[in-house]
Amino acid sequence: MIRILITGGAGFIGFNVTKKIAIDKKVSITVLDIVPLRKLDKEFLEFIKKNKNVFYKRLNILKLNSVFKRRNYDYIIHLAAELGVDNVISNPYKVISFNIKSTIELIEFGLKQKNLKKFCYTSSSEVYAHTIKKKKMIPTKENIEIMYSSNLSKRDSYMSSKFFGEVSLKLSSLPFIIFRPHNIYGPRMGTKHVVPQLIKKSLKKQKNLAVYSPRHSRSFCYIDDAVDMMIKAIFSKISNQVFNIGNPKSEIKIHELAKLIKNQISPDKIIKFDCDQLGSPKRRVPSMQKFVDYFGTVKFTNVENGLAKTIKWYTKFFS
Ligand SMILES: NC(=O)c1ccc[n+]([C@@H]2O[C@H](COP(=O)([O-])OP(=O)(O)OC[C@H]3O[C@@H](n4cnc5c(N)ncnc54)[C@H](O)[C@@H]3O)[C@@H](O)[C@H]2O)c1
Repeated sequence: MIRILITGGAGFIGFNVTKKIAIDKKVSITVLDIVPLRKLDKEFLEFIKKNKNVFYKRLNILKLNSVFKRRNYDYIIHLAAELGVDNVISNPYKVISFNIKSTIELIEFGLKQKNLKKFCYTSSSEVYAHTIKKKKMIPTKENIEIMYSSNLSKRDSYMSSKFFGEVSLKLSSLPFIIFRPHNIYGPRMGTKHVVPQLIKKSLKKQKNLAVYSPRHSRSFCYIDDAVDMMIKAIFSKISNQVFNIGNPKSEIKIHELAKLIKNQISPDKIIKFDCDQLGSPKRRVPSMQKFVDYFGTVKFTNVENGLAKTIKWYTKFFS
């Protein structure tokens, strides 16, 4: 039996990673998340009921070492975090403090395991934010020097916490893989990101569709592709490496993304350009060359197909 601990496993990426790994019945998964049972969505609850090799435990991971005494995990996949642009800007100290403390808590738990094969940590594309602004190296490779700005902004709390997490893990002596996901999207991703927000606005009766940061561009990566990449890396023999997770072929300006979305929902809507979000990089595209060099080619879902699946899910969700 392979034993896996997944933090943040009730969340967007966490649930999708859990679902994919749980197909193998030789694997036993403990999902830790702070969401109480009564607040978990139907899809997640049904999944837990059906899959006897998945165990859900509600826990604030800051208490992990005082509550959890198991020492036989083979893999730790640490996804729980404080995130989301609005949250980061409104609660910068809470974000940096939680993300740093929880990652240290997890690393210390990892160090107590008898036979840990890999500690997998989700950092973020946000660690490149200042580097991209100053060096404009796009697509961005993992080995680029990470830069900071002397003009500290609230937004830096998230990128700093993720970079601190990376450095702590690298210095911990645990075998690790670090992921830097770039704009992952798909069904059940919450309501705060640009894709669900544009879907929500497109479903409303108003004639106009306001689009923030319309000329900024991002590479959107469909969740199934991101999970496939992560799982390939997690269960490979490779460790002590950092990998971007994303789809460099899908770079699109936000107003073009809005057009694709509203065309599938309400084509007559008129797109209105709104202001740019402060501190947000104008472009963000991952280089996936390193991933391909280590694990071979990656099959990507095209944006129209990924959006169609996402729109279908959110149309039901918002109705
Ligand atoms: N989604 C993306 O595009 C993206 C991009 C870059 C990085 N990431 C990183 O990937 C990871 C997963 O992101 P996501 O989009 O699935 O986010 P998410 O918000 O859907 O999932 C995070 C989960 O962590 C849980 N959590 C928060 N505080 C906790 C605590 N104290 N104890 C236990 N659980 C707690 C939440 O309840 C949630 O279920 C995060 O670390 C995030 O920073 C995501």
